Amino acid sequence: MNDEYVHSDSNVIYVDQNIPGPFEDSVEYNNIVCNFNSQLINYCKCDVSCSIESCLCLMKSGDANYEIAGCTLNFGKDIGNSSYPIIECNSLCSCSENCGNRLVQKGPLDCLEVKTCSNISKGKGLFTTKVISKGTFICEYAGEILTLEQAKKRHKLNDTLKKMNYIFCLNEYCNGTQYQMIIDPSEVGNIGRYINHSCDPNCIIVPVRVDTPLPKLAIYSQLDIAPGSELTYNYGTNSFGSSEEAECRKKCLCGNNNCIGLMPSDKY
Ligand SMILES: C[S@@+](CC[C@H](N)C(=O)[O-])C[C@H]1O[C@@H](n2cnc3c(N)ncnc32)[C@H](O)[C@@H]1O
Ligand SMILES: [Zn+2]
Ligand SMILES: [Zn+2]
Ligand SMILES: [Zn+2]
Repeated sequence: MNDEYVHSDSNVIYVDQNIPGPFEDSVEYNNIVCNFNSQLINYCKCDVSCSIESCLCLMKSGDANYEIAGCTLNFGKDIGNSSYPIIECNSLCSCSENCGNRLVQKGPLDCLEVKTCSNISKGKGLFTTKVISKGTFICEYAGEILTLEQAKKRHKLNDTLKKMNYIFCLNEYCNGTQYQMIIDPSEVGNIGRYINHSCDPNCIIVPVRVDTPLPKLAIYSQLDIAPGSELTYNYGTNSFGSSEEAECRKKCLCGNNNCIGLMPSDKY
C-alpha cells in the first residue's frame, strides 16, 4: 500500500490500515485477533485480468466492483444495499496487480489535505487539492479495531471530556446475524480520521474485503468533486432517534440547506 501521509499532531500515531486495539481478556477480542491474522480463503486463478465470467473474486462479489479499468466504483451494483460484499483480488490470486479488481489495497489518493474548517467549531476537515471524479476511492477510515466494551468506555469518556468522537461502528447482516466492526482512529489512525459528517455528503463509506475476513471501511466519492472542496460522508442513518437521544447528540454544522440539525449517533 502506498500511503505517504503523516499526522501534524505528534500525539496521534499514523497507521495505513486497521490494527487490533489494546488487549482485552475476552472471546470478542480473541476473535478480532484471529480474523485479523486470517487469510480469506477465496482467490482467483485468472490469467492477468479478471472478468465476471471467470473470476471467483468477482463471482463472490455478485458483479464487477469497479468500472473504467478498475478505477471507479460500480454504482450499478447497488452499493450500500447490495447483498453481495465487495471482495477485491488478494495476494493469493494469480491475476496481475492491475487486474481491475484492486483499488482500496493500493492506498489513498495523493491530493488530500487536512485544514481547519471555515466553521472552526467543526475542527479540522479533509479537503481535495484536485478534481475527484465520481466513484473514485479516496481513502480508508482506519484505526484501532475495538470490542464493544472498549468502544462503549471510550465513547462515554469522550462525552464526559467533551472530546471529538472518532469511533465508527459498521453493522453488517448475514443470514439474520449482525456483525459489527468498530474502528477508532482517535489516537491511532490514518488520514480518513479528518473527514467530517454532512447531511448532504459528496462521499460514501463502504465495507471492502481484501486479504482478511475483516472489512476495510473504504470511502469513495459519490459525485464529481471540485478542487478545494471539503470531503464529507454521512456518519449514520439513525438520524431520527428518540427525543432523549436527541438531547445528547451534537449540533450538526454541515451548513447544508437540508441539514437535519443534529449529528447522527451510533447505536452499539
Ligand atoms: C471523525 S472526527 C472528524 C475530524 C475532526 N473535525 C477533527 O478536527 O479532527 C468527528 C468529529 O468532528 C466533529 N464533526 C464532524 N462533522 C461535524 C458536523 N457536521 N458538525 C459538527 N461537528 C462535526 C465532531 O466533533 C465529531 O465528533
Ligand atoms: Zn480474478
Ligand atoms: Zn484479479
Ligand atoms: Zn447537517
